[in-house]
Amino acid sequence: MTENTWTPSSWRKKPVTQDVIYNDEEKLNRVLGKLAYLPPLVCPREIQALREQLKEVALGKAFLLQGGDCAESFDYCSQEPIENKLKILLQMSLILTWGARIPVVRIARMAGQYAKPRSKPTELHEGEEIYSFRGDNINGYNPNDREPDPERLLSAYFHSAATMNYVRSILNSGFADLHRPTEWDLQYINSTEIREEYQTIVNRLTDALNYMQVIGADQPQLASTLSSVDLYMSHEGLMLPFEEALTRYLPDPSNGGRKWYNTSTHFLWIGDRTRQLDGAHVEYFSGIENPIGIKVGPSMENEELVRVLNIVNPKKEIGKVTLISRYNATKIEQYLPGHIKAVQESGHVVVWACDPMHGNTEQSSSGVKTRSFNNIIQEISKSIRIHKENNSQLNGIHLELTGDHVTECVGGFMELDHDDLSQNYQTFCDPRLNCEQSLDVAFLIAKYYERERKGVPGI
Ligand code: PEP
Ligand code: CO
Repeated sequence: MTENTWTPSSWRKKPVTQDVIYNDEEKLNRVLGKLAYLPPLVCPREIQALREQLKEVALGKAFLLQGGDCAESFDYCSQEPIENKLKILLQMSLILTWGARIPVVRIARMAGQYAKPRSKPTELHEGEEIYSFRGDNINGYNPNDREPDPERLLSAYFHSAATMNYVRSILNSGFADLHRPTEWDLQYINSTEIREEYQTIVNRLTDALNYMQVIGADQPQLASTLSSVDLYMSHEGLMLPFEEALTRYLPDPSNGGRKWYNTSTHFLWIGDRTRQLDGAHVEYFSGIENPIGIKVGPSMENEELVRVLNIVNPKKEIGKVTLISRYNATKIEQYLPGHIKAVQESGHVVVWACDPMHGNTEQSSSGVKTRSFNNIIQEISKSIRIHKENNSQLNGIHLELTGDHVTECVGGFMELDHDDLSQNYQTFCDPRLNCEQSLDVAFLIAKYYERERKGVPGI
């Protein structure tokens, strides 16, 4: 884009990958009109606050934890799934903060992560060709409900709103109070080892907090920092008509000038399949004020990476862009060093996050999609090491996870086997880490940083 040609709808002049075709255009326009009328779901002050925090992450002073479902279903908009998701993210961030001794910036793939890019627009069902499932905001998972329905975009807005409302409400009511981390109980965790390790951190933390109270250091301002946390929301910015309708020209809280904000969420990312330089998604992303992510896979050329950064962040603002690398445990060595060098030479200062999930998806012997815990750990470890060897630093992690006891990824402490996957395989899309596997990942990263702090080399 050039700055003076961008509008929230200028993407419409470019090729749209993963486009959705609606039969009833009039209904679609009616829905989009209503969406454009509805109030913002998030406001510029929050978006700006996240920009500031991600700047700290890019400079190595904080760590990014981003996680949640691959595809969120409207059915997850309910008390228990929301609380479980929050709990696991808070527990992981507590472990990471403890190990790395730096603040953790938390972003959930939540309250809007409904649309999914698909490798094929149609699939065979009982010998008949039907549309693939594209996410709850587009069509239904049930094979009889695959016609895209614009009404679902409106439903997505209200499910996002209800999810965010409950998240804000419980976070404001002390759900994340560090004085009571024991209340984020681990009874549902089967591994004694993980429970004990977590309990040690909680005991030491409680001790430290008590001590601070005794010496009077736990003053009101600090106490409020300890009892409330920030949790930001994110989703893939795939459905551009929806994103356009929620894009608003609002005052910038820092100087009062107006800017374009995507008010459907705090952080959006461009998927690996929609990041073409001359495509609609890159055009749309180039004009919004929100912090953004770009998925970076093996097909990204070094020079192409720099070009996309120049398009979406011409002023080279620090931490505006998070590069979410997702190669594969055995391919990362081949691609990451080149990508790091290209970015360093370009002068862009990005947040480097590792998504160890999307390059490591495989077909299990029973036919369902799975990922091996071991490969996930391998890609993270290699990412940490390669960054270090190249004078860079891994700044964050991007995971598909759930707070529930699902059996979708093989391996991990419970040594889930391919045959065990059917016990509780729930995902509508990609396999997620369950709560134990997620905590295990947090411990792995925390221990690495703890060793670093103490001068013990190696990962
Ligand atoms: C995702 O994050 O769910 C996804 C589809 O990832 P990618 O674009 O990296 O394949
Ligand atoms: Co996914």
